[in-house]
Amino acid sequence: MTGVRPPLAELRAITKTFGALVANDSIDLVVQPGEVHALLGENGAGKSTLTRILYGLSQPDSGEISIEGTVRKMSSPADAMAAGIGMVTQEFSLVGTMTVTENLMLAGVGIGRINRVAARTRALEAAARIGVSINPDAVVETLSVGERQRVEIVKALFHDCRLLILDEPTAVLVPQDVGMLFDSIRRLTADGMGVIFISHKLHEVVEIAGRVSILRRGKIVASVPAAGLEPRQIAAMMVGAEVVAHGGITEAVSTVEADALATSIGLEPSAVSTALVAPAGDRPPGVGRATTVSSATPAATASTAVAATSGRANTASVPALAIRDLTLRGSGAPLLDTVSITVAPGEIVGVAGVSGNGQTELVSVLCGMAEPTSGSIQIGRVDITALGVVERIRAGLGRLTEDRRGSVIPNLSVEQNLVLEDLDTFRRGPFLSRTRMRTHVHQLMQRFDIRANATDPIRSLSGGNMQKVLLARALSRNPRALVASQPTRGLDVGACEYVYSQLRGLRDDGAGVLVISEDLDELLGLCDRIVVLFSGRIIGDVMAADASREELGLLMTGQAA
Ligand SMILES: Nc1ncnc2c1ncn2[C@@H]1O[C@H](COP(=O)(O)OP(=O)(O)OP(=O)(O)O)[C@@H](O)[C@H]1O
Ligand SMILES: [Mg+2]
Repeated sequence: MTGVRPPLAELRAITKTFGALVANDSIDLVVQPGEVHALLGENGAGKSTLTRILYGLSQPDSGEISIEGTVRKMSSPADAMAAGIGMVTQEFSLVGTMTVTENLMLAGVGIGRINRVAARTRALEAAARIGVSINPDAVVETLSVGERQRVEIVKALFHDCRLLILDEPTAVLVPQDVGMLFDSIRRLTADGMGVIFISHKLHEVVEIAGRVSILRRGKIVASVPAAGLEPRQIAAMMVGAEVVAHGGITEAVSTVEADALATSIGLEPSAVSTALVAPAGDRPPGVGRATTVSSATPAATASTAVAATSGRANTASVPALAIRDLTLRGSGAPLLDTVSITVAPGEIVGVAGVSGNGQTELVSVLCGMAEPTSGSIQIGRVDITALGVVERIRAGLGRLTEDRRGSVIPNLSVEQNLVLEDLDTFRRGPFLSRTRMRTHVHQLMQRFDIRANATDPIRSLSGGNMQKVLLARALSRNPRALVASQPTRGLDVGACEYVYSQLRGLRDDGAGVLVISEDLDELLGLCDRIVVLFSGRIIGDVMAADASREELGLLMTGQAA
């Protein structure tokens, strides 16, 4: 695309290292006015690092940034804002106890004075620009996630921004909110604005992006127009299919070849996508994949629609997990109202629902972070209702909670976090066997393809790798019942497939799995049975094979109850 105007942003040879790790390796990227430029890549590929550099949150080791033809140094976000760049980061940045207007004024600190009346007016103008209505006087913590994100965008637009960076803006949104966000993005680009859009949801990318740049292990491996691209082709580029000069990709290998490949490296043919993303091998942790599987099978890798499952539930035996009449009262209506769910050994049960209908509370109560008002929880024959977290884990509970950062100790290493819940198994008399611990950690890191050094603090890991650590920890004890909340939030397609195959493996080994997710397609593909949670109550219970999206959608909004 050549225009009379210079590119909105041009990044040249940006390099950023963290110790031995090259997070960005001489990256070139051009964003044109009016373009939605998707930045894609597996977890840990370097997307956030690059955009943080552009926004002045992090300094590159080398490289240069030009904005509209002029070289600029981004020493801080204030420099970036002054250059017309706004960013909504992966973690939201609003102060919950302040109003929308106050948050926007706060954002203006350091770049000129602004009074409350002017801030209010500008907030309304910015909201109109993206076609949404916001209440400038609302206290942020009373807003829904979708509304908060709109405020984040309004905040980014506050300073005459011409390039907006959105880092995984849809990861936390329900489908209706995604639609609104896309409408806003289209309005902005029609106005000549450029948008850098990061997402792991490839169907969204093909819907909204004009150009797609793909990062693999810190390097740009393709930058192509999005028109005509299919999600599976993008996935292939992300994991390493060869990219030919004109921007297309080489023919994918047949499924037969892919299956043979899987078998040759000791994996079930059905786990072929896993094989492509995480080939087994004698790879020390932290070194990364030794070989690139250059002829990836995009069909398998991109299948976010999970293959249909056949339930092997053993309903005759003792349930793996039995939740009976669980009730949790808050100040108003009950947060959980006589919730009963039974998960048989060898069964995956999904809990569907629009967020805010009791999911968080259910997970808290099941995992021992909150005490129910009444009701009981049983794992096998053990009543765990009154047990603490550690005792629950001993009784056979595995947990994968939504709040990743809340489930790890940030300053401890990957290794330490991995064995945290497992220390008793390494005890030798009064001591811990370090050798056994190391071997165990090494095996887990290989099995789950955790791309980090065992001794790195866990806070430095990318979202996807952190999720793999939690999954590894939860599954390493062969739990009898696993409670998994939003198990794939923020994960790349390969990692999602991997998580699914692990959950299915656990089910096939006879455990009961309860998956709480806002992603209906995920539940439909993964689960044997789906229950619907609405207003703290279970209002539907269907076999996944017989369920339709429409029926579940109605139940989720409380209709057809
Ligand atoms: N402050 C830091 N210290 C050490 N390593 C870091 C730091 N920030 C990022 N990294 C590493 O740099 C690499 C790239 O991380 P980055 O967050 O850019 O990935 P990403 O592509 O955004 O991944 P995701 O899709 O999971 O968000 C990762 O291996 C990560 O562990
Ligand atoms: Mg990121």
